[in-house]
Amino acid sequence: MEKSVNHICIWLTLPVILLSFSSLPSATENSLGISNKSLKAWLLPEVSYPKYNPYQKAVENLGKQLFFDPRLTGDRTLSCAACHYPGTGWSDPLSNKNREGQVMDRNTPALINTAFQKRFFWDGRGITLENAISAHLQELSIKMANVPVLPSAYRQKFWQAFGSPEITSGNIVKAIANFLRTIIVNDSPFDRWVSGDRSAISQSARKGFLLFTGKAKCVECHSAPNFSDSKFHNTGINSLDPGHFDVTGNPEDRNRFRTASLRQASRTPPYMHNGSKNSLMSVIEFYNHGGDRHGAGNELSLLNLSEQEEQDLLDFLMSLTGRGTSIAVPQLPLNDFP
Ligand code: HEC
Ligand code: HEC
Repeated sequence: MEKSVNHICIWLTLPVILLSFSSLPSATENSLGISNKSLKAWLLPEVSYPKYNPYQKAVENLGKQLFFDPRLTGDRTLSCAACHYPGTGWSDPLSNKNREGQVMDRNTPALINTAFQKRFFWDGRGITLENAISAHLQELSIKMANVPVLPSAYRQKFWQAFGSPEITSGNIVKAIANFLRTIIVNDSPFDRWVSGDRSAISQSARKGFLLFTGKAKCVECHSAPNFSDSKFHNTGINSLDPGHFDVTGNPEDRNRFRTASLRQASRTPPYMHNGSKNSLMSVIEFYNHGGDRHGAGNELSLLNLSEQEEQDLLDFLMSLTGRGTSIAVPQLPLNDFP
């Protein structure tokens, strides 16, 4: 008798327990079986600044001016922003390779969430952000056969930022790196979803996330929280570019490139180190076929995604689009007049 009373109690309370669980943010994600814990791994942490270049407003402001200043790269027409254009996800819609008078051999990467990368450039030759910017400035000045000359009105800005009016290349690089670490996208619908807003993304995008972390294997390289393992992989792209091999000299690294991060990717076509893919759907189809070129170190395999699955994956990638950093072009110091 006592037993059956217990049973009734359990049957009465069970729906109440289930109901209250489903309204808690810690509940598993619908019928898809995504646990809250695995979602939290995708929350971007605070940016950590290196000890040798801590965040300071005056340094960031100076970095922003230098980024937009065409006098920095030597030829006096091409600022950092000319290729890493803020309006198109801090990258170049013309891929740079397709630009007339092309000055770099590769597609211009988006400078978004760069603070979270551990290696820089497609081939990984940059070990720190500062080191990458310094090398990049040298390459650009050499290609443009010109030495950058900044107007002396900058001296006051350097003084405010570094306590010394001297315009040194070391401080130029620090200022730009300080500024680049502020270009963060962490407000996409996906970000709202992983922080608990369960209606922030569509059912199709949620299915896409499951494919991304499951059948489609994307997460093996595009890992949490920045959608990049900062490591080097060969994805069988048709290209003669030696990639990471140029840095290590190790034959296994031929055609390996650093994994691109994916927040805001919908805003930054074309894609890949050679700009060979014009849309996110063409990237997905590329992965579905296991890459352009099979064998020879290609790490991908055929995915056999249906058309619907490709669409779900696309909806998921679209859900990584945030507002982006809106930015006013700063006023630049005037030239010296003789
Ligand atoms: C002519 C176009 C062009 C200009 C001007 C330019 N860049 Fe780049 N930038 C590129 C290309 C192309 C790459 C990729 C090169 C590679 O991987 O070999 C790149 C890569 C980078 C990277 C590495 C990003 C990553 O995710 O690894 C940083 C940082 C960067 N640029 C910052 C700057 C800054 C700062 C300036 C101004 C001093 C600048 N760029 C000017 C085209 C340009
Ligand atoms: C074996 C590692 C690996 C796997 C698996 C992988 N990627 Fe990539 N992904 C990369 C690398 C490396 C790059 C840069 C390749 C290049 O430029 O040559 C890249 C580039 C991309 C880009 C272009 C980003 C840009 O800004 O140019 C997108 C989009 C992308 N991957 C999405 C995906 C999706 C979706 C999947 C799953 C279907 C996936 N990736 C699976 C390593 C991988």
